[in-house]
Amino acid sequence: MTVAEALLDKQEIFPPPEAFAAAAAIPGMAAYRTLMAEAERDYEGFWARLARETLSWKKPFAKVLDETAAPFYKWFEDGRLNASYNSLDRHVEAGHGNRVAIIFEADNGAVTRVTYRDLLLQVCRFANALKKRGIKKGDRVVIYMPMSIEGIAAMQACARIGATHSVVFGGFSSKALHERIVDVGAVAVITADEQVRGGKVLPLKQIVDEALAMEGCDAVQSVIVYRRTGGNIPWVAGRDLWMHELTRGESDSCEPEWVSAEHPLFILYTSGSTGKPKGVQHSTGGYLLWAAQTMKWTFDWKPGDIFWCTADIGWVTGHSYIAYGPLVLGGTQVVFEGVPTYPNAGRFWEMIARHRVSVFYTAPTAIRSLVKTSELDPNTRPTAYDLSSLRLLGTVGEPISPQTWRWYYDQVGGGRCPVVDTWWQTETGGHMIAPMPGATPLVPGSCTLPLPGIMAAIVDETGQEEPNGQGGLLVIKRPWPAMLRTVWGDPERFRKSYFPEELGGHLYLAGDGATRDKDTGYFTITGRIDDVLNVSGHRLGTMEIESALVANPLVAEAAVVSRPDELTGEAIVAFVVLKRQGPGDGDARQLADELRAWVGKEIGPIAKPKDIRFGENLPKTRSGKIMRRLLRSIAKEEGITQDVSTLENPAILSQLGKSY
Ligand code: WT7
Repeated sequence: MTVAEALLDKQEIFPPPEAFAAAAAIPGMAAYRTLMAEAERDYEGFWARLARETLSWKKPFAKVLDETAAPFYKWFEDGRLNASYNSLDRHVEAGHGNRVAIIFEADNGAVTRVTYRDLLLQVCRFANALKKRGIKKGDRVVIYMPMSIEGIAAMQACARIGATHSVVFGGFSSKALHERIVDVGAVAVITADEQVRGGKVLPLKQIVDEALAMEGCDAVQSVIVYRRTGGNIPWVAGRDLWMHELTRGESDSCEPEWVSAEHPLFILYTSGSTGKPKGVQHSTGGYLLWAAQTMKWTFDWKPGDIFWCTADIGWVTGHSYIAYGPLVLGGTQVVFEGVPTYPNAGRFWEMIARHRVSVFYTAPTAIRSLVKTSELDPNTRPTAYDLSSLRLLGTVGEPISPQTWRWYYDQVGGGRCPVVDTWWQTETGGHMIAPMPGATPLVPGSCTLPLPGIMAAIVDETGQEEPNGQGGLLVIKRPWPAMLRTVWGDPERFRKSYFPEELGGHLYLAGDGATRDKDTGYFTITGRIDDVLNVSGHRLGTMEIESALVANPLVAEAAVVSRPDELTGEAIVAFVVLKRQGPGDGDARQLADELRAWVGKEIGPIAKPKDIRFGENLPKTRSGKIMRRLLRSIAKEEGITQDVSTLENPAILSQLGKSY
């Protein structure tokens, strides 16, 4: 259903509950419009005010925005601060040392609570230990860890000493990890012996060793290992150190390194349209401001809230809404090691009830899978649990269908809780388009309106703004403090990908298509406009998967597209040409499994193609261009309606009809 249709059907608009609005940070559309107007009237003044109110500065900034090297914008550059001080010390200094910062629930259900004071001491000891290993301001540290208090403490410890962290998701393979370690030039890797999820053990340290055995990792001097399971692991004397031994006897005070607001807090790799992932570089001041400000606005965060974001620290959501945002505000949050379906699909609801979670943030793909399992097993239905503590729900990562939205709203939120559908990206640092839950009337399937200060628009291929009611390219018209600063080591790629000349060179191009409702101006995201796939809310480049496939000695050529999937949103479909003759049926099945396993090793299990189709060639035009539109039709099994007269080799279409 489109927004316009939805608006006709009055049932599908959900104004904020009155009591919610009355107590909200933005208590109505008038308040929202006032903020927007403030930003429009005095853009720099608006951001300066927020930066002063939300963060603690060691040295206040005098200059707000520096546009001289646009699009390499700088924010608050002459101000100095420390992210870890803002996350921890200032709450202890304000007398909140005994407040619980993290309620950690392990895969097996064991619960550990850590207060702000204890987390600060832990971070200080670890920061001192890192310094003892020679790690200093500006060094890059790769973190390859499970969801844990220690993982968050590792990020905070890097921030404390001015080292730039680069967290790699624990589901990435040794090759993918290696590529990131080399590209970022890491001097240390922080990991765990093993990771436990859904009752299964994954050998993280062993994967780190495999990565470091590959070429180009000589800069890595230290591998620091958090003992999670005590399982047997390989060990390299001199290089490898146990976290608990390294920190033993370290002082539990550590003066923060006061850095410029522009100092790189972290680099996080994400997929683009080439085979090589991009190291998205974020700042300290602008990034931290937005992580905290969006907690206040989108999540309407208040003291007393129990916040739970189910993302992994390996993704940007886990940076902004676990490792930084909630801590910068002094909030209490749940951190979960496991998966939503273990020991059964009621785990999320059970945990919300156990910890009295009030604000819950998860991905549409998780909701879809829980809709399905709850149909099969009534004991795992959200309505079988006491979810009365919830007051707000959020989603992120991919479009949410109106049906899934309704289930979330009715079954999980009991029809009481606003649902905030938050559109943003690794590059944007925090929420960009999302409802303000005390103000914005909700329309299922739409992420509604930009946050105050965010100047979003839809333009055509030449950068011309489209009127409401029209679809096009989603852009942001003005720089904002939390935007990425560059692509690590590749400023030209930054400029070309995000500020393309075709659009005039001054618009931030998100890479998503979107439409705006004619009457309300509400945004609806229609999906990526580039060769980037979204599988279970994870971003993957088609080229990345194609490069992985052609690296296999049996594969001559490969093309990857996606098709819609009920559970994962998009599913990966690979078209493969073998070097030898095409396989018979039995062989093909086995070969497809081998190639899936191969991609799992090259990138990670999330990148395994769901369908593989073999052919003696790929459908190409006479000039040799792969006809991707045709491949997408084949992948969807929807019958070919395109003109195939320009096809060089029509005979191969019949071969590609079978999927393994
Ligand atoms: C891409 C960014 C943002 C944190 C998680 C993903 C898609 C994200 C939504 C949403 C529709 C969404 C976009 C975007 N996306 N949120 N609410 N509705 N699509 O971060 O890996 O950088 O991916 O995810 O396509 O460009 P990411």
